[in-house]
Amino acid sequence: MIRVEKLHKTFGTGTRARPVLHDVDLTIAQGTIGAVVGPSGAGKSTLARCVNLLERPTSGRVRVAGTDVTDLPERELRDARRAIGTVFQSANLLRRRTAAQNVAMPLRYLGVTAREEKRRVAELLERVGLADRAADYPAQLSGGQRQRVGIARALALRPKVLLSDEATSGLDPAATRSVLALLRELTTDLDLAILLITHEMEVVREVADTAALLREGRVVESGPVRQLVADPHSALGNALLPDRPVSRDRRGLGTWRLTYQGHAVPTDWLTRLGADHGLDVHLLSATVEEIAGRAAGRATVAVGHDRAEELTAALGGWGIHAEPLPEPPSPVPADEPAAPGPASETTAETVEEAVV
Ligand SMILES: Nc1ncnc2c1ncn2[C@@H]1O[C@H](COP(=O)(O)OP(=O)(O)O)[C@@H](O)[C@H]1O
Ligand SMILES: [Mg+2]
Repeated sequence: MIRVEKLHKTFGTGTRARPVLHDVDLTIAQGTIGAVVGPSGAGKSTLARCVNLLERPTSGRVRVAGTDVTDLPERELRDARRAIGTVFQSANLLRRRTAAQNVAMPLRYLGVTAREEKRRVAELLERVGLADRAADYPAQLSGGQRQRVGIARALALRPKVLLSDEATSGLDPAATRSVLALLRELTTDLDLAILLITHEMEVVREVADTAALLREGRVVESGPVRQLVADPHSALGNALLPDRPVSRDRRGLGTWRLTYQGHAVPTDWLTRLGADHGLDVHLLSATVEEIAGRAAGRATVAVGHDRAEELTAALGGWGIHAEPLPEPPSPVPADEPAAPGPASETTAETVEEAVV
């Protein structure tokens, strides 16, 4: 378990004090992947460095695998760090060492026998699917393979938690997917708790169990990914599953935002609204993704004001949540400045811009 409580981190002192993290709470259970997302400069890496003990928190507590590591004296820190594996963006492999030698690095400090080292390195490379590349140098490996070597090295000391700071940034989509699939597999097989730092929503959607949005050093939203995407008010949920309604003439129509998540929702709900309920529904946008093995969707539809009750009743019967959206602002003549939209109505674009 990774548990961060009321974490504050300020760099520098006095007039040069620069607060970076404010009152951050975060829990990641064993066997799960917790993502932390946020724009560049939000404090994500600083948070990771406070968890892997490269930085001391200014105040608050950090617990890793049952140990409160906040105030450990220097010599005990070294042992505590062994319980934490870290994978960085560029894997940080030593260029003049083979894949096997890179993986062996952490074992060297432990002074294991040559025989034991050989056995363990072979096992780790096998674990990440690179048994046949042991003798290759980093330059001979693809970006995804280098990250796998980095992961094998991070696992060398049998950590209970793993931190991944932008480990898939810069990888192509196929390599990203394979690294994420490996992390998912390791989480389950080794019962790890993984803190996954990323600025990519696809990454969160693909593997995370929980997610927290960090903005200017504060957690502004957090929760299980399944719940976030099913919550019509969640900015993070909307960024994970963006829903961008097309603008069109909606006179006489009420607009509804729909959110759903789970098996109970029929895939042909839109057709059935027409066929079974006689509702003339205009589909303005829809997006469906598989999240944690289940379909999750967001859609915006418009229907005649007089049919609103029938619409919500039909949708409710399938477990689709429907909420009315405010009327779109009436068109503004071109020479007048457009009024800003209602404050409560955060568009997917602004959320994504803020998040990514
Ligand atoms: N050692 C440091 N000293 C002073 N400021 C730092 C230090 N490390 C990070 N910062 C500042 O903290 C803020 C958050 O940085 P970082 O944690 O790297 O954000 P992220 O990983 O979300 O992009 C940035 O404004 C950065 O300049
Ligand atoms: Mg960073």
